[in-house]
Amino acid sequence: MRILFFSAKSYDQEYFTLANEAFGYELSFIEAPLSQQTLSLSQGYEAICVFVNDKLDAAVLEGLAQKGVKVVALRCAGFNNVDLTAAAKLGITVLRVPAYSPEAVAEHAVALILTLSRKTHKAYNRVRESNFSLERLTGFNLYQKTIGVVGTGKIGQAFCRIMQGFGCRLLAYDLYPNEEMQSLGVEYVSFTRLLEQSDVISLHCPLTPDTHHLLDAQAFGQIKKGATLINTSRGGLIDTAAVIQALKHAQIRALGIDVYEQEEHLFFRDLSETIIQDDLIARLMSFPNVLVTAHQAFFTQEALTEIAQISLSNLSAWQQGAPLANEVKDKA
Ligand code: NAI
Repeated sequence: MRILFFSAKSYDQEYFTLANEAFGYELSFIEAPLSQQTLSLSQGYEAICVFVNDKLDAAVLEGLAQKGVKVVALRCAGFNNVDLTAAAKLGITVLRVPAYSPEAVAEHAVALILTLSRKTHKAYNRVRESNFSLERLTGFNLYQKTIGVVGTGKIGQAFCRIMQGFGCRLLAYDLYPNEEMQSLGVEYVSFTRLLEQSDVISLHCPLTPDTHHLLDAQAFGQIKKGATLINTSRGGLIDTAAVIQALKHAQIRALGIDVYEQEEHLFFRDLSETIIQDDLIARLMSFPNVLVTAHQAFFTQEALTEIAQISLSNLSAWQQGAPLANEVKDKA
């Protein structure tokens, strides 16, 4: 089978080439993202492999189907970038990697919290300039703080386990409370109560029409004053304009984000010589208490190995007509 990779970086090529030794497929990598302009490159490929910011809307899927594409392998967990209804109508199978290393993402969320709570990003720069002053580096303990976890799926659960090790009280909000988490002492509460009581809020639910702008102006009105907000899930969970207001009015103490609403125009690229046209991200980056990483929470050796292995196994199962455990189907 020939597989065309869109948005392919050097690390995709490295890890997929290694994993492919066991499969023997013909892999082609292109750095361009999938779009109306680039979909014609898929001519002659039954299978394509895409990432988080490749937009598979109805028009793109239709174009892919015309080129003969029959299966799309997402090399990620989230699938909010795919029009599943259109894919089903066109007979295109969509596969994903539901879990590769929940700990990778959970640990990155913790890294964001600790950086913001202890200001290590500022300390690092100061010491490099021989500034050994502690002025304005005061942090806060996590011990005995209340942590609010939105979404206790695979990543949320891994995150809860880590935060328990810090001696935190854990509140959670999920449509489906998890008994194992409850037995570990995680208390499920309403979203409003979680906002009102949590010192740190970490988002781990998927982006869906229901969760779009879950953190909007109204939610920021309910959030505990001085809370720290962490988002390693999807940018669309937070209304960026509203969080900027919350930061300006010190409603929240700090913001740590690995994902951003308009990230497809920015992330995974070196734009250091470019004038950033997105005024919202520019404003966010100007706050001293905002930490932005560019969708790297998944980015560990362990996770990359798993992603490549599972993506190729998914395609192998599809090719052989075997049951597709990791197929994403339209719910409608
Ligand atoms: P999962 O499917 O195991 O868990 C999601 C949880 O959210 C489930 O327990 C579900 O019941 C809950 N949920 C769904 N709708 C909800 C709602 N309206 N309100 C509250 N809870 C709701 O997913 P997993 O693997 O834990 O991943 C979570 C998200 O993390 C993914 O959807 C993806 O967007 C993001 N992610 C980010 C990565 C990164 O590198 N930054 C890497 C991998 C995933």
